[in-house]
Amino acid sequence: MPGDKSISHRALMLSALAVGESRISGLLEGEDVLATAAAMRAMGAQVERAGDGEWRVHGVGVGGLLQPAQALDMGNSGTSTRLLMGLIASHPITATFVGDASLSKRPMGRVIEPLSQMGAEITASPGGRLPLMLRGASPAVPITYRLPVASAQVKSAVLLAGLNTPGITTVIEPVPTRDHSERMLRGFGAELTVDVDAAGTRTIRLRGEAELRPQVIEVPGDPSSAAFFIVAALLAPGSELVIENVGLNPTRAGLIEVLRAMGGSIEELNPREVGGEPVADLRVLHSPLKGIEIDPAIAPSMIDEFPILFVAAAMAEGHTVTSGLDELRVKESDRLTVMNEALTAAGARVTETEDGLIIEGSGGEPLRGSANARTKTHLDHRVAMSMAVAGLVSRDGVEVDDTRPIATSFPDFESLLGGLVQ
Ligand code: S3P
Repeated sequence: MPGDKSISHRALMLSALAVGESRISGLLEGEDVLATAAAMRAMGAQVERAGDGEWRVHGVGVGGLLQPAQALDMGNSGTSTRLLMGLIASHPITATFVGDASLSKRPMGRVIEPLSQMGAEITASPGGRLPLMLRGASPAVPITYRLPVASAQVKSAVLLAGLNTPGITTVIEPVPTRDHSERMLRGFGAELTVDVDAAGTRTIRLRGEAELRPQVIEVPGDPSSAAFFIVAALLAPGSELVIENVGLNPTRAGLIEVLRAMGGSIEELNPREVGGEPVADLRVLHSPLKGIEIDPAIAPSMIDEFPILFVAAAMAEGHTVTSGLDELRVKESDRLTVMNEALTAAGARVTETEDGLIIEGSGGEPLRGSANARTKTHLDHRVAMSMAVAGLVSRDGVEVDDTRPIATSFPDFESLLGGLVQ
């Protein structure tokens, strides 16, 4: 599997803030991560590709980011945008953020709010969207911020702003989200503590101004990319697939739990640790799946996996009911409406509710497919990949209107999938 997207962004950003040379291997060379690399270069770090997934970064030190000469082009990447807004919020520089049509529709108010409290001045387009201009504060003010939405990007933006803020920056997280920032900040030598109370609320405290030490980082494989192959193997009759190098951080592994509860045979082989994260190879066998009701509490640990889960549900026996998924409406596309339309066009039985989809599965029968009605992907890489898997298990195939966004997270997806199909 290609390198984890979330971890790749963080590896570049923190390396760019450590004084000295960090070495990264297994970096995801997708467009989103390359946007982060370009931004760190534009702010003074030396970021060089040394080979396949091998990168060397000479950082400028916390507080050392330079004024970028041009607007930072974030492409399709919400993670680059929100995390970099955090980094810049506590540096005495001004940056303009621009992005593609999809990113320019996504809400940035969720980071504008806490970063403004820390002293940053942000002028956004109407609705708190890109393009926006951010003037960092120096010194910024440490805050205690309780996350109003379960978002690792908001959590990370505040923590990254805290790096160059004197004092203790605190984030309170009532619902746990991916913890790659916390793990990696500690790995780079930041003073960071996490307390969990009886209700499961996490309080994360970071002491600034931090000094980061350069690291050697191995990026584990991305479970969100593996997800497409896990579901493809479960659905395609006769499949037996070993997927190597899959990150299994518990804050990311919700899909595997749900698919197992639906009857999927997914075995973990060779469990190990890579870059401070749990990793294994997965052996997946074709399995008849049963529909289930998914507890919304598991959503944050599989937030990017719902499009492909909906495909699995469309082939299961019985109903799958999802709820509590309002966040899916503000991803690269509105993933509830877009997946409803795409799967319905392919012959699945789907009902869209305010905060979820209800899917009546085919009981293992191939979907009809939608060869004559091109699936509209709305610049959403995960919709394109999910519908490719749906096409694999359909009678007539599925045609998607635009495969280019796949390169944002998984440049080799098409050749890997093509190589598996006989
Ligand atoms: C990410 C967090 C999630 C996820 C995104 C990557 C991250 O977004 O959907 O693909 O790297 O922190 P939210 O923080 O908006 O949930």
